[in-house]
Amino acid sequence: MTYVTKRVSFSAAHRLYNPNFSDEKNEDIFGLCNNKMGHGHNYDLEVTVRGNVQKETGMVIDLNKLKKILIREIVEKVDHKHLNYDVPFLKGVIPTAENLAVKFWDILKDKIDEGELYEIKLYESRNNFVIYRAE
Ligand code: NI
Repeated sequence: MTYVTKRVSFSAAHRLYNPNFSDEKNEDIFGLCNNKMGHGHNYDLEVTVRGNVQKETGMVIDLNKLKKILIREIVEKVDHKHLNYDVPFLKGVIPTAENLAVKFWDILKDKIDEGELYEIKLYESRNNFVIYRAE
């Protein structure tokens, strides 16, 4: 089994809060990310596909093709957007990196037709990232 990864980047704004919590509780749980007017992150998204290397191409999946899928399905929908307001598939979702990774998985899982989606790694900053595998 061979694993290949493509990385794409996007920038987006968000505010982390739960409308069912008081202001104090939101502040307590989400801290700086609870800032009322929102704030931004430069995200890096790494998507790993696994499969057998195809004899005819020497590839698991053409990484340029994978890049096009990631741009079309994810980046064009979230780049320079406010994740709380501008992105239909995030409606009602607290836009943490954890939740974004799961949503991205759900979008991508049927779009990858060579190999299979193995892992989503989403960096919210250089030091903070999450990994999601539907297992
Ligand atoms: Ni944040």
